[in-house]
Amino acid sequence: MKFSFSLVIYYVFTSLAFQIPSATAADTLAANNTLKDGQTLVSSGQRFEFGFFSLGSSSRRYLGIWYKNINPLTVVWVANRDDPITSSSGSLVFNPQGALSLSNGTVFIWFVNVTRALSNPVLQLLDNGNLVLTGDGGDYLWQSFDYITDTLLPGMKLGWNLKTGLKRDMTSWLSSDDPATGEFTFSLDPPEAPELVLRKGDQKEYRWGPWDGVRFSGSNELRPNPVYTPEFNSSREEIYYTFKVDDSSILSRFIVTSQGLLQYLTWTNHSNEWALMVTLQRDSCDRYESCGPYGNCYADDPNCRCLRGFTPKSPESWRLIDWSDGCVRKRGLDCQNGDGFVKYDRMKLPDNSHLVTNRNFSLSLEECEAECLKNCSCMAYTKIDIHGNGGDCVMWFGDLVDMKYFPNGGSNLYIRMAQAELESIADAKRKKRVKVAALITMSIVLGMLLGVLVWRIYLTRKAKIRRAAISENNSYRDTNDETQEGDLELPLFGLDVVSAATNKFSFEKKIGEGGFGPVYKGVLPTGQEVAVKRLSQNSGQGLREFKNEVILISKLQHRNLVKLLGCCIQGEERMLIYEYQPNKSLDQFLFDKTRRKFLTWKKRFDIVIGIARGLLYLHQDSRLRIIHRDLKASNILLDGEMNPKISDFGIARIFGEKTQEMTKRVIGTYGYMSPEYAMGGHFSVKSDVFSYGVLVLEIVSGKKNWGFYHPDHDLNLLGHTWKLWNEGNPLELMDELMEDTISENEVVRCIQVGLLCVQQRMEDRPTMSSVLLMLSNESIMVPQPKEPGFCTEISSGGDTSSSVNNLHTANELTVTDLGGR
Ligand SMILES: *[C@@H]1O[C@H](CO)[C@@H](O)[C@H](O)[C@H]1NC(C)=O
Ligand SMILES: *[C@@H]1O[C@H](CO)[C@@H](O)[C@H](O)[C@H]1NC(C)=O
Ligand SMILES: *[C@@H]1O[C@H](CO)[C@@H](O)[C@H](O)[C@H]1NC(C)=O
Ligand SMILES: *[C@@H]1O[C@H](CO)[C@@H](O)[C@H](O)[C@H]1NC(C)=O
Ligand SMILES: *[C@@H]1O[C@H](CO)[C@@H](O)[C@H](O)[C@H]1NC(C)=O
Ligand SMILES: *[C@@H]1O[C@H](CO)[C@@H](O)[C@H](O)[C@H]1NC(C)=O
Ligand SMILES: *[C@@H]1O[C@H](CO)[C@@H](O)[C@H](O)[C@H]1NC(C)=O
Repeated sequence: MKFSFSLVIYYVFTSLAFQIPSATAADTLAANNTLKDGQTLVSSGQRFEFGFFSLGSSSRRYLGIWYKNINPLTVVWVANRDDPITSSSGSLVFNPQGALSLSNGTVFIWFVNVTRALSNPVLQLLDNGNLVLTGDGGDYLWQSFDYITDTLLPGMKLGWNLKTGLKRDMTSWLSSDDPATGEFTFSLDPPEAPELVLRKGDQKEYRWGPWDGVRFSGSNELRPNPVYTPEFNSSREEIYYTFKVDDSSILSRFIVTSQGLLQYLTWTNHSNEWALMVTLQRDSCDRYESCGPYGNCYADDPNCRCLRGFTPKSPESWRLIDWSDGCVRKRGLDCQNGDGFVKYDRMKLPDNSHLVTNRNFSLSLEECEAECLKNCSCMAYTKIDIHGNGGDCVMWFGDLVDMKYFPNGGSNLYIRMAQAELESIADAKRKKRVKVAALITMSIVLGMLLGVLVWRIYLTRKAKIRRAAISENNSYRDTNDETQEGDLELPLFGLDVVSAATNKFSFEKKIGEGGFGPVYKGVLPTGQEVAVKRLSQNSGQGLREFKNEVILISKLQHRNLVKLLGCCIQGEERMLIYEYQPNKSLDQFLFDKTRRKFLTWKKRFDIVIGIARGLLYLHQDSRLRIIHRDLKASNILLDGEMNPKISDFGIARIFGEKTQEMTKRVIGTYGYMSPEYAMGGHFSVKSDVFSYGVLVLEIVSGKKNWGFYHPDHDLNLLGHTWKLWNEGNPLELMDELMEDTISENEVVRCIQVGLLCVQQRMEDRPTMSSVLLMLSNESIMVPQPKEPGFCTEISSGGDTSSSVNNLHTANELTVTDLGGR
């Protein structure tokens, strides 16, 4: 590591004499030396490179750090982002006292100032991407990690060094090929109760926090996952956010893009590209202050509701879906006569929190309440563990803004309320309790004579409850929003056009029958080939809702999703018009003795990855977070190059199901349905993961899960795979018709991931982002799968705990097709 004089002399000599850039790959630059344009330092593990570069077709030269072996050029740090050098005459001059300056040939445009003269200064590029200046003592006198540009590398700290007063922020580039200071800044502030804030100029755009001991409030995305572990540290010296990557061979970075998106990216060797792991901004509720003061944002169907005890400030604009005015109290506060507090749970904590205690001791929740009560402008308090010392009392002064409701998780918040409001709430609660008690008593003594009397009391109570003003709901919601007629941004096709295109929906034009109705091939007057899906069931939705859903769905664009071109609405008739895929659907290849041969292993692996990408986009990266609910081979279409494209996504939404977790109508296909969905109608992204796992195993084996037959046992494909896996012969599952050279590692990896996806318990199944990582990075450890759900066919019934024979209990079951078409 230490500077080697002869090596550097050699290095400088060769570079100067022959202009061979970076050939000698030293990682240090010693005093009295100069780094000229064309020369570079390379970190000892060959991971990072430091030197001069240009972007795109521009001739402007920048001094910076990039990944050495990655193409395209991925820059992680820039010294002179706002002062490019216009010629190739730039050089980094290192004077004997340790000062570094960047010269453009005539003037110095960038400096590293050292506070004291050093005796043996060395500049070194470390293998974690940090460029450090060390003196005799070995401590860093300057490091590039302290001057973040738009990239946070593992180990870089976003936040404060309280001793030196240094604050480290991320600032976006101006555009993807101009590293100049852009509009967006991501920072951790203030130091006391820190939040993560993304600003555009001075304006807050997004905010997460404060830290509650587990996460920044509202940032469920920042949690440990197979690739990186987010960390927050708050001590007397430092307060910072960072992340660490457990497997050091994985390249991962966190960036703020020039459009202001906060993204975790991971390099995938398999496809040579940066894969998007997580975007911090998830839905419209994340946008700063989207609901105004005291408004609570609900992400499932994006809208704002007032907190309990509050009512819209201007009901008129609230009805017009303009929520910016927020809500006001139903009953005004009266500090002198004693206010109280109401607890709200599952909240993203509001902005502008203040830490009350110093860090030496922590207050109990009661003491915290008493503190807040003392000051009439304290509007809310809660206790959260910012410093890992058991809990801190945090308060809010002024209006509460930027809250969000979390169906699972979230924090508790205690909000100041007028005495009258408290009484009304307590009253309603007491009556509810009485009502419950009365009901219990009633059921016990129903048969007795006394029952009559109790019944009377109950009736009077019940009447009183009806009169009670306060509702027990957390929020108030105004449902009267029939007023707006949104402009359709999606082409509307006339019925006559569609009818002509499909030859009046003739039988010859029919190319399939999906869960929601028949599909026809058509040719538009422009010559474009389209697929027309004629929705068979009436969705039960209003016209406006239908249009809104279709517009939202049409905005989902990904190369592994079928593109929605438009819709046709006439009377009761609803149709969706998609781009046509010439190779039809995956099942027509996969389950066909002759056509199956076209699916080489390489093709199959690409299809497995492509479907994962499309599904990940639906689950995570699109604003809508769509659960497909009917993923199967016949819903995977293949384009001219056999690239997979998921179809039929979002249809469940069009049918008005939105994202409730329980559904009365089970939509799905035997063989692909997860146990919790088939039996309880409970669906989530994990039920899609189950279907994906089935699909992966079908692709590897070329056999259907539903209708699988084996002479030795009556297990289905999942059970059969599980059996082979436990016997140590997973490769026996492989389709014998695959003729190309097969990477056995890849096949086993696919089978293992497939088995992980079909595990019985949904908590055990991985998310699609983990699936994609496990498939595309050979170095990631894939966990051992547990037993799959549904090891035998549903119809064979009864012999395992996972079989379904109580399907009839609650739900209407709509099974779209049994054997595929
Ligand atoms: C740098 O050059 C000066 C003068 O030539 C010399 O005295 C000094 O020892 C050199 N320093 C290093 C670290 O080589
Ligand atoms: C260096 O920058 C200065 C000031 O911007 C400019 O006047 C000068 O021409 C530049 N020199 C070279 C060699 O580019
Ligand atoms: C270094 O010092 C010079 C002159 O004192 C100053 O103009 C420059 O901004 C400083 N550079 C840095 C990176 O602090
Ligand atoms: C937090 O930072 C302090 C001071 O920098 C350090 O001593 C401590 O080890 C860090 N804690 C963790 C968990 O990293
Ligand atoms: C990716 O490739 C690089 C260079 O070939 C190698 O150093 C690294 O270990 C690989 N990483 C993974 C995760 O396979
Ligand atoms: C907190 O405790 C530390 C050491 O235990 C002490 O130095 C400091 O003065 C205390 N701060 C306050 C505000 O009590
Ligand atoms: C209440 O708290 C605010 C904010 O900390 C402070 O400015 C104000 O002086 C306090 N009022 C009283 C009466 O303590």
